[in-house]
Amino acid sequence: MPSLLSADFANLQSAVESVPSSDALHVDVMDSHFVPNLTLGLPVVESLRKATQAMLDIHLMIEDPDRWAPAYAEAGAESVTFHVEAAKAPVRLARELRQQGARAGMALKPATAIEGYADLLPELDMVLIMTVEPGFGGQKFLDMTLPKITRTRKLLDALGGDIWLQIDGGVSVETIERCVEAGADAFVAGSSVFGADDPDAMVRRLRELAVSRLS
Ligand code: DX5
Ligand code: ZN
Repeated sequence: MPSLLSADFANLQSAVESVPSSDALHVDVMDSHFVPNLTLGLPVVESLRKATQAMLDIHLMIEDPDRWAPAYAEAGAESVTFHVEAAKAPVRLARELRQQGARAGMALKPATAIEGYADLLPELDMVLIMTVEPGFGGQKFLDMTLPKITRTRKLLDALGGDIWLQIDGGVSVETIERCVEAGADAFVAGSSVFGADDPDAMVRRLRELAVSRLS
């Protein structure tokens, strides 16, 4: 999934059109409080919804997602992910998102352990493990997150079902195979896709690398 954070914000329509092979578009919402950066919010997501049929995968890096997240589901985003560090009532929020018809995702910063949230997993459709500190594109992949990906994979396998394990931050041709081996099955890539000469070819290349490791 390409992250639009690394696209030209003055020309989102052409960014969307430049990656037709992607499974979804990852949209990073930042509020300059939960993370030290400010990006875009609901009006832009509403416009994106009108501009594309692609799956919208919203990553909320904001305070008080309990208050703001449901509106993104209402706006027609297929997947809405909140940070568990910011959520006051994550179970209630996940249920609300699902009620609105969206997939519910829970994100963890690099230093947040999964174990305290194991009981929450059945309420979710996706766990997002940040492989950089959230806030900016183009950062170096943090290998220290790999054991957590593996531990999360074990918890998800024990549960059965179809909860996606998404990785976000520093994903590239150099790092994606490590993530697959650790147990991830959904991948966000910003700078490696939009920094490539041919963004769509990079999406296909990353997917091929991941699939070849999965099988
Ligand atoms: C960072 C965002 C990411 C970001 C990834 O806080 O959540 O989605 O766009 O960018 P890269 O792939 O460049 O690390
Ligand atoms: Zn993101």
